[in-house]
Amino acid sequence: MHTDPTSGTALPGASVRLRPATGRDADFLADVLLEAFNWNGGRFTSAEMLRMPHIAHYVTGWPRAGDFGVVAEDDAGRPIGAGWARTFPADDPGYGHVAPDVPELTLGVLPGHRGRGVGSALLDALVELAARSSVGLLSLSVEDGNPAVRLYAARGFTVVGREGESDTMLLRLAGAPSGRLEA
Ligand SMILES: CC(C)(COP(=O)(O)OP(=O)(O)OC[C@H]1O[C@@H](n2cnc3c(N)ncnc32)[C@H](O)[C@@H]1OP(=O)(O)O)[C@@H](O)C(=O)NCCC(=O)NCCS
Repeated sequence: MHTDPTSGTALPGASVRLRPATGRDADFLADVLLEAFNWNGGRFTSAEMLRMPHIAHYVTGWPRAGDFGVVAEDDAGRPIGAGWARTFPADDPGYGHVAPDVPELTLGVLPGHRGRGVGSALLDALVELAARSSVGLLSLSVEDGNPAVRLYAARGFTVVGREGESDTMLLRLAGAPSGRLEA
């Protein structure tokens, strides 16, 4: 029997636990989305971001069928980071769009909690959730200069495309049919 990747996983050296993201996390996911888009400084406020449909659609209506995600909490139960994945149709793509059946992930950890392995643990848990849901591929978009690219590359994501100033990266989970993207 496997252990649930998100049920009370304690990270070594830190009082951090992972749990599945639920509908009650919608506002927190929006906070994390803001961190992801503001990784290089304060580009938008939360209100501005939520008025931009091509950005807000990463969290709009959370959770929709097929969405999955993980939240990291500190020892007081406060959320400090999250990673989640959602698919987008071809006529409303995310920045890291590969195909309508390939979920695109978003990842972020609140400032003050970074550099302690939380982002890595969230990503690992998300990948494991994807694998258990028979998701074969996960994509993402990472802007030029964002050091998060090292985290993704270390987990096996590879660059498969380019959109504006960002790379589109893809992880092929074990067992995914290799010709699926070209189909
Ligand atoms: C990217 C992010 C989620 C990583 O979370 P984290 O908890 O700091 O990550 P970890 O402690 O697990 O570190 C994992 C790796 O991330 C890389 N990394 C990510 N951000 C980094 C940064 N600002 N500076 C240096 N390394 C960074 C490093 O390679 C690190 O590995 P290493 O310690 O072996 O060098 C977090 O920095 C964050 O929220 N950044 C702002 C939002 C963002 O950019 N999201 C991704 C959008 S594509």
